[in-house]
Amino acid sequence: MTTFALDHDARRRLGYRLIDHINDYFDSLPDRRVQLPLDERSFEQLRERMPEVGEDAAKALDEMAREMIDKGFHVPAANYFGLMNPTPTYMAVLAEAFVAAINPQLASLNRSQLASKIEIETVRWIGERIWSEPTKFDGTFTSGGNEANFSALAMALSSHFPCAIEDGFAGCGDRPVLYASSESHHSLDKSVGLLGVGRKALRRIAVNQLMQLDPQALEERILQDLATGYKPFCVVGTAGTTNSGAVDDLNALADVCQRFGLWFHVDGAYGAAAVFSDKHRDLVSDIERADSVTIDPHKWMAMPFAAGVVLTRRANMLATTFGVSTPYMPKFAGANIVDNFKVSTQWSRRMNSLKLWLTLRVHGRQAYEEHIDNQLKLARQFAGWVKKSDRFELLNDPQLTIVNFRVKNVPASEVAAANQAVVDEVTSDGTRWISTTVAGGKPVIRVMVISYLTGEKQLEGLEQALMAAAPGKASGRI
Ligand SMILES: Cc1ncc(COP(=O)(O)O)c(C=O)c1O
Repeated sequence: MTTFALDHDARRRLGYRLIDHINDYFDSLPDRRVQLPLDERSFEQLRERMPEVGEDAAKALDEMAREMIDKGFHVPAANYFGLMNPTPTYMAVLAEAFVAAINPQLASLNRSQLASKIEIETVRWIGERIWSEPTKFDGTFTSGGNEANFSALAMALSSHFPCAIEDGFAGCGDRPVLYASSESHHSLDKSVGLLGVGRKALRRIAVNQLMQLDPQALEERILQDLATGYKPFCVVGTAGTTNSGAVDDLNALADVCQRFGLWFHVDGAYGAAAVFSDKHRDLVSDIERADSVTIDPHKWMAMPFAAGVVLTRRANMLATTFGVSTPYMPKFAGANIVDNFKVSTQWSRRMNSLKLWLTLRVHGRQAYEEHIDNQLKLARQFAGWVKKSDRFELLNDPQLTIVNFRVKNVPASEVAAANQAVVDEVTSDGTRWISTTVAGGKPVIRVMVISYLTGEKQLEGLEQALMAAAPGKASGRI
């Protein structure tokens, strides 16, 4: 036995010690500052030497927890109004520890029978919220939206250019092109680069005032491409853009795809979670017309990294695209579900589904309905505050939980700098985190309600901080 093997009492003692740290951390989240104050932040590399021999485990655990918490950046904090990363559910945290302990290898069925079934069942639960019962669909967990979008585009390609899988495009002699809005996620650029289609093949289509892909402009570009010898194969609609949470007109895009025979992918990494709310499903209505959908439980569904899912209602396309075989891959006579490695980019595969499965089992789908409803309400309230403010101007009513606004009464050429100055000021003491971005070409401040611990108290604190940071004489809360 090596020194890795700890005895029963040591394992128990260390496990409880860590759980105490995690539990205290969770207690602190509603009021915890997101990061250190500006003058204490450091971006230098660590320079410790690799330990040759070990040290006391309890001391190392305590130090690790203290340092990571004291000096860390806290995505789970209720005052993190940030990019799309949430406070994980506690059940998910426990499931993650359990997965690490059990370490199921989900590549193939015969080494992970129950784990695979749980994963497939979790995919089914998600798919059934997108497509009603009679639709047959397949899906697989991924490391996140990046891999899910990559997988969807790979399917779209192999559906249109079957020869590409074996021969590559040189063999097919085609010039494939695809379409997404100018606001869509950069994972699409990476994907088409890696798939050999080339980044230039991704046609970025202009958006309307609401940051939605303009179907008219899309159609015109498709016709232009067809007339010049290109081969359109896919349109990507976004359900919840990264900048502003805009949801494209999925029905209009599906119509265009139908007319031209194109694969319709919906990148719902963030917004597709709305299917879990009966009340707000209409926010992503017609998502069921997609050939494939990306949804990231590690965004609006309060899962820790990593958890993405790609689903498709095109029979066997995952298997057609990712299927491989070599002699060492285990076979399992009598299996009627497909080995994960045959429907995914991955071979060795972590069980990213158990945390969502356990959260759903303990809290139920209705907890997500409440979560989504509450977050939408908070985002709309905050947008209402912006609208009434004499210092800030709302860009659009939020479609989901991202609010874009700008400093008011500033010349257009100075807006970006004024926004940035406000964000720098609001984030300088580390208490809360917001950011700037550019939505539809316009510089904006971006606030996102993403933590299930965020409530009116945190938003009121943010409003006060914004007023204090805004140019002009502060006039307190409106
Ligand atoms: C709309 C959208 N799609 C895809 C992604 C990529 O997801 P991931 O970070 O899980 O790879 C993101 C990430 O923020 C996103 O906002």
